[in-house]
Amino acid sequence: MAIRTIITEPNKLLRQVSKPVNQVGKEEQKLMKDMLETMYAANGIGLAAIQVGIPQRIIVMDICKEENKKEPRYFVNPIIKNKDPLKATYEEGCLSVPNQFADIDRPSKCEVEYLDYNGQKQLLKAEGLLATCIQHEMDHLEGILFIDYLSKLKKSMIIKKLSKLKSSTAEV
Ligand code: NI
Repeated sequence: MAIRTIITEPNKLLRQVSKPVNQVGKEEQKLMKDMLETMYAANGIGLAAIQVGIPQRIIVMDICKEENKKEPRYFVNPIIKNKDPLKATYEEGCLSVPNQFADIDRPSKCEVEYLDYNGQKQLLKAEGLLATCIQHEMDHLEGILFIDYLSKLKKSMIIKKLSKLKSSTAEV
């Protein structure tokens, strides 16, 4: 496994629409392991492949709050099957939008069809943080970031801040 570099906003790559995966093979599994390690190292709870520069419809997540316990989840080609009209609000952040947080409304429950780590078709019925997190990650596959849901003013303030941060620190 290897830790990969997480791309941060502003970066055109993050706006790219990711492509479906043809099959879950060794290469895709290695990518998922790398993404998981990268996510854990950055103290994140979700990561999409495009955040490490790979435009494939792959997501890893672990929302387990218990210390020293890991519950990794892998999603390949996820599709939302159902969304609850009732909304829930969570304070969201994103490893590609470092140190910025905002309350975002999303459907409180959803059903997601996807392929797992072994390429098996699965159906997830998600609610609470899990529902919010999978929807946030699936937005990445469409080139959408949580700051896109904010007012133009708020969004541009955040992007300005991040741009300044980038110019004052050497990009790696
Ligand atoms: Ni994110």
